[in-house]
Amino acid sequence: MGEYMLTTQFLKSRTSTRDFKDVDLKKADLEKLENIIDSEIIKLGKDDLAFIVQTDGEAVYKALDGKAGYKGIMIKAPAYLALNTLNDDPASLVKGAYGVEEIITELDKMGIGNCWITVGDVGEDIKESVFNYEKGEVNLLLAIGYPVDTTVREHQFDDRKGIGEFVFIDDLGNKATNEDLEQRGLDEIFAYARFAPSAYNAQPWRFLLVDDLIKLYIEDYKGNANLLDAGIIMYYIDKLGESISMGSNWEIKPELNDDKYVYIASKQL
Ligand SMILES: Cc1cc2nc3c(=O)[nH]c(=O)nc-3n(C[C@H](O)[C@H](O)[C@H](O)COP(=O)(O)O)c2cc1C
Repeated sequence: MGEYMLTTQFLKSRTSTRDFKDVDLKKADLEKLENIIDSEIIKLGKDDLAFIVQTDGEAVYKALDGKAGYKGIMIKAPAYLALNTLNDDPASLVKGAYGVEEIITELDKMGIGNCWITVGDVGEDIKESVFNYEKGEVNLLLAIGYPVDTTVREHQFDDRKGIGEFVFIDDLGNKATNEDLEQRGLDEIFAYARFAPSAYNAQPWRFLLVDDLIKLYIEDYKGNANLLDAGIIMYYIDKLGESISMGSNWEIKPELNDDKYVYIASKQL
């Protein structure tokens, strides 16, 4: 199997885990995780972000049940990884979500499943006491643990948007066709990028292709969760783009406003 096939396979089977075995993370796995986090934070910038691992899953679950998650439905896991943003620059959240996806890639290799959990409605004091931080905010939680069901599930396409609904060419009114993307060698990238998770599976990302630039926007921006959605899809695009040597980095400069399309970042093809 070629490298590209492997990447697509791997992103295709990257689904959320919501049922975790009631066992603690192994000591060796925790140590690995700490190392992964350390190197990730060097990449992301330790002045902007921190990760907190909470291995007292029970305490987190008790404190957040009824408050975190969709409609207050908290996901029970043996451990949680929290993303602590240390400033209120929107770019930090985008970068943080990107970093979490990089961490998820490593967790996958260890057989550790995960699910993102929204914590936007949880009071700051509760989060501070559960995760023991003094600076900044916790805007995101990842439930982590060994999945009850270890069979590899693949995504279906039926809960994902069609390419013409989220990729545009030259103008945000001008939908891309499959042929447009094929000509540019981008058809597969966008076909698989759709598997990226997003809050409420809302898939709010919109891409505008202008010459050799990919510009990322969020449609109907609703707040922090969308910045996380943006960071996640950027990771997917990068992973899928590796095969066509799309090596440039994203330039992240969110322009938050009330426009229908809110600009987040661009990347050179
Ligand atoms: C920012 C963010 C927040 C999320 N919050 C929750 C949550 O609170 N509860 C939950 O069950 N899933 C949550 N999810 C998971 C998404 O619902 C899920 O990834 C999406 O529906 C796609 O499903 P899949 O991961 O199985 O492909 C969240 C995902 C993201 C990106």
